[in-house]
Amino acid sequence: MSDLASLEQRGLAELQESADEAALRAWNTKYFGKTGTVSAALKKVGEVPPAERRAYGQEANRVKEALTRAYEEQLAKAKEEKLAQNLAAESLDVTLPGRRVDQGRLHVSTQVLRTIFAIFADLGFQLFRTREVEDDLTNFELLNMPPHHPARDMWDTFHTTTPGVLLRTHTSPGQIHVMRAYCPKPIRAILPGMCYRYEAITTRSEIMFNQVEGLAIGDHVTMADLKGTIVAFARRLFGEDRQVRIRSSYFPFTEPSIEVDMDCIVCGGKGCSLCKRSGWLEIMGAGMVHPTVLRNGGYDPERFTGFAFGMGPERIAMLKYAIDDIRQFWANDLRFLRQF
Ligand code: FA5
Repeated sequence: MSDLASLEQRGLAELQESADEAALRAWNTKYFGKTGTVSAALKKVGEVPPAERRAYGQEANRVKEALTRAYEEQLAKAKEEKLAQNLAAESLDVTLPGRRVDQGRLHVSTQVLRTIFAIFADLGFQLFRTREVEDDLTNFELLNMPPHHPARDMWDTFHTTTPGVLLRTHTSPGQIHVMRAYCPKPIRAILPGMCYRYEAITTRSEIMFNQVEGLAIGDHVTMADLKGTIVAFARRLFGEDRQVRIRSSYFPFTEPSIEVDMDCIVCGGKGCSLCKRSGWLEIMGAGMVHPTVLRNGGYDPERFTGFAFGMGPERIAMLKYAIDDIRQFWANDLRFLRQF
């Protein structure tokens, strides 16, 4: 009986010293495991003289229950302490506002391109995409610029290491591709895309920039159609009051060739720094498709006529949003891009 009393005392004392859950579980194995002290004490019942057996058995059970209860209380307390510790260490304020997810948007060039596409879609022009890596034949020769033609100097060219393969300097070679795809049907198409020029980069000129080419071919396409199309386009993009002026120019693939100016959107034609006091802003090059180019595209110039134009959407965006430096477009500066 005294063994049982000291077993109870030792058990309770050691339980007090078991600081955490792991120590408590080790205690439990020591006392209640298969070969544990309490289990051994219970097994001893058989060895006790019959007269004392009943009392011993009762006391052994009482000790067992007391230790079990104490263990369970201690274990629950340890678990609670651990939880409180975790909550304090990993505190989470569920009332804090969430982190903002940055929203992407379309690049200003893409926005202007899509506006241009929509205007020409309204005017009945379909979209036709062609390649950025071109051959010399299509970029120059079929556009009426044989090798050594002086007009080739108008386009400083990035050549690849493969002879005759270059980065297109303008979208005009697309004229040949679309003509060959649709000949002899009439055409009304715009050909957008990136162009590359081996030029000095300035506030107005980049080495890569978009162009949108326009091409209309049919049996009665005239200069008046070209002018009407350009005026309709300028007014839809820049406002109903816009005036358009046509100057004579030169491109090897159009005859006659023109350059198109629009009255200055800042001063309305009076003269300011944007228009360099001229009152006019250049918006595109254009003209009637040269008979040689029509023929290279498969069309009989005796039967068909056509007009073509080429404009730079970045230059148009510069006018529309008063951007004074074209280098901003590809500088990836979010402070600039977020404005659009
Ligand atoms: C051409 O490239 C002709 N292919 C346009 C054309 C098409 C004429 C069809 C007749 C018929 P030009 O080199 O002027 O022409 O370029 C046309 C437009 O592209 C310019 O008005 C300008 O808006 C834009 N552009 C030209 N060079 C650059 C550059 N370095 N950076 C940004 N935009 C440019």
